[in-house]
Amino acid sequence: MVISIKRNVDVLRKIVLSTIALTSLVAVSACGETPATPGAAEAPAEPEPEIEVAFADVTGDAAAGENVYGKCRACHLLEEGRNAMGPSLFGVIGRKAGSIEDFNYSEANANNDITWTPEVLFDYLRSPGDYMPGTRMAFPGIKDAQDRADLVAFLTAQGE
Ligand code: HEC
Repeated sequence: MVISIKRNVDVLRKIVLSTIALTSLVAVSACGETPATPGAAEAPAEPEPEIEVAFADVTGDAAAGENVYGKCRACHLLEEGRNAMGPSLFGVIGRKAGSIEDFNYSEANANNDITWTPEVLFDYLRSPGDYMPGTRMAFPGIKDAQDRADLVAFLTAQGE
């Protein structure tokens, strides 16, 4: 009698063990269905590369650009021959850099060969210090391509 109980316990243990084994097998194969990439969750997110937008890809709105021009007002005037902290921006589109006679430019701006075409101005205004190292224009730039296109459209309209 004692032996037969022991046998039954043995059988029971086997059943329990094989059930556990089976359960974990099912769990393992379930994992296999959705393969997790090891380390994917911990990988630090790559910073999004800043997308350079070309002037040709944005349509500027001169009316909206008048608001953006508010960022320039502290240092620039749009009246002909009137300089402030910065040179007059009257007729700036199509003007050669550093060409206002009575404005005391930095070397970087004075000796620059560029002409302020809409494209050049659009690129410059993204980050003046990067575009023209050594400029005295203490302005961080306008990152938003649409804002820049609007502003360039506004400045272009001033000369028309
Ligand atoms: C904090 C003052 C300041 C602000 C704000 C500022 N500028 Fe200027 N800007 C200057 C100064 C100073 C210069 C002359 C830079 C030099 O000589 O190095 C300049 C030069 C320029 C030039 C070159 C002009 C030339 O005759 O070659 C352009 C174009 C210009 N700024 C456009 C803008 C526009 C557009 C804005 C608004 C988005 C703006 N600036 C905002 C101070 C400023």
